[in-house]
Amino acid sequence: MILVGGEGNGLDAGQGLNGDRYIIEGKLGEGGFGVTYLAQKAQNRQRVVIKTLKDELLSDPNFARYRDRFRDEALLLSLCKHPNIVQIDNYFIDGDLPCIAMEYVAGEDLWKLVEKRGILSETEALNYIRKVGEAVIVVHEKGLLHRDIKPQNIMVRDNQDAVLIDFGLARGFIPDRTQQMSLGLTHGFAPPEQYGEIGRFAEYTDVYALAATLYYLLTKTPPTAAFMRALNHPLKPPFQINPNISDAVQRAILKGMEMDETKRPQSVEKWLAMLPQATGNWGQRGGVSPTIPSPQPAPQPVNLISAKGVDYRQLDRLLASGKWKEADEETANKMLEVAGRTEEGWLRSEDIDRFPCADLRTIDQLWVKYSNGRFGFSVQKRIYESLGGTGKDDEKIWKAFGDRVGWRVNKEWLYYNDLKFNTKAQEGHLPRMGLGVGGRFGLLRIRCGCGTLLSRRDL
Ligand SMILES: Nc1ncnc2c1ncn2[C@@H]1O[C@H](COP(=O)(O)OP(=O)(O)O)[C@@H](O)[C@H]1O
Ligand SMILES: [Mg+2]
Repeated sequence: MILVGGEGNGLDAGQGLNGDRYIIEGKLGEGGFGVTYLAQKAQNRQRVVIKTLKDELLSDPNFARYRDRFRDEALLLSLCKHPNIVQIDNYFIDGDLPCIAMEYVAGEDLWKLVEKRGILSETEALNYIRKVGEAVIVVHEKGLLHRDIKPQNIMVRDNQDAVLIDFGLARGFIPDRTQQMSLGLTHGFAPPEQYGEIGRFAEYTDVYALAATLYYLLTKTPPTAAFMRALNHPLKPPFQINPNISDAVQRAILKGMEMDETKRPQSVEKWLAMLPQATGNWGQRGGVSPTIPSPQPAPQPVNLISAKGVDYRQLDRLLASGKWKEADEETANKMLEVAGRTEEGWLRSEDIDRFPCADLRTIDQLWVKYSNGRFGFSVQKRIYESLGGTGKDDEKIWKAFGDRVGWRVNKEWLYYNDLKFNTKAQEGHLPRMGLGVGGRFGLLRIRCGCGTLLSRRDL
């Protein structure tokens, strides 16, 4: 959370609101019309966020209209109940200023998160986008549009849940003034119809912004503004900025950001269906799950569960300290231990088939967590499936997989020691699935084991 300075205008820290029910702690942000504050509820000392209109608007001849529209924001927010939509706590008038009190989402907005951490992994970005997408579906079910979806209006809770905030533009908040002042849209995220005098808005308007948000999360680059695109400045395909973006995601982004709204998926559901199956969607295949457990709960410890009493603490330590090679070897050893194949030193297909789900998940979650979503079985599984892998041995898919995860370079399979044991490696490069840590002789074994492992339904 960042508090921005700004004494002199607006409310000051320590100031009470609504008969001292709320005490202001500081300012969180300031937009064209509104100011957002962090506050404390005197009754239970709980933190809340208070949004109000700028006091300079009090002297504006249109003030009554702004106040009514602002009340609409509160009303719309209170109508949309969903775990991924910020919850409204109260609405009141203080002095002459209307105020919305809402749930405080401890965490950062997606803009700040990407500024700080850089490009997100596809797994993490899709996790947020799907959650926000489900929230937007609820907004649309009420016959409303958000119209201002962008990274700054999505908060990420500490537990990796994404929450949609800022309904200030929903249903065309102050359209005349915002257009006149160019404040009612954000370049890059707003679709072309929002630039028009009489835009034809529908669900596809939010689809564009959602796709543009995904573009940003995966490239750390705001997309070319729609009005520029209309002037023949093309949108750079996201893949050119981040080569790790999968084909399916690239297609979904570009389709969602079609300039011609009739070419976009006409609803958020349809657009979400274009995205690849979420990894970490444990045990489910086919069908879209509304809430996807995040496979990379970065700040949370992974439960080191084992069905065979195997101790994963050393693996945890190695991964935490970025010792990727040792961690890979430890993974192989632990997998052999779980399967009771330490002596033989390799896993058969049936061992992988019978490999306990709990252990598979523990190992996977550790890799996903410490690599920020870059490595892990579930990451490899997503890549494998995106290439059409089903578990059946298929040389073409296997080679394509090798190319994608960087196990094969210039049509040659790499020796184990030539793998990249650092986070610059391709997505899915590690772990080597506990399969054949030896030279190239183990390749066929890896190939068979890989198909079996990556087609497991519980991965
Ligand atoms: N409920 C909330 N919990 C935590 N931070 C919030 C919350 N609402 C807003 N913020 C922070 O304040 C910023 C501005 O709030 P927002 O409602 O988007 O107003 P604006 O109209 O100024 O864009 C957001 O980008 C976010 O960083
Ligand atoms: Mg905002």
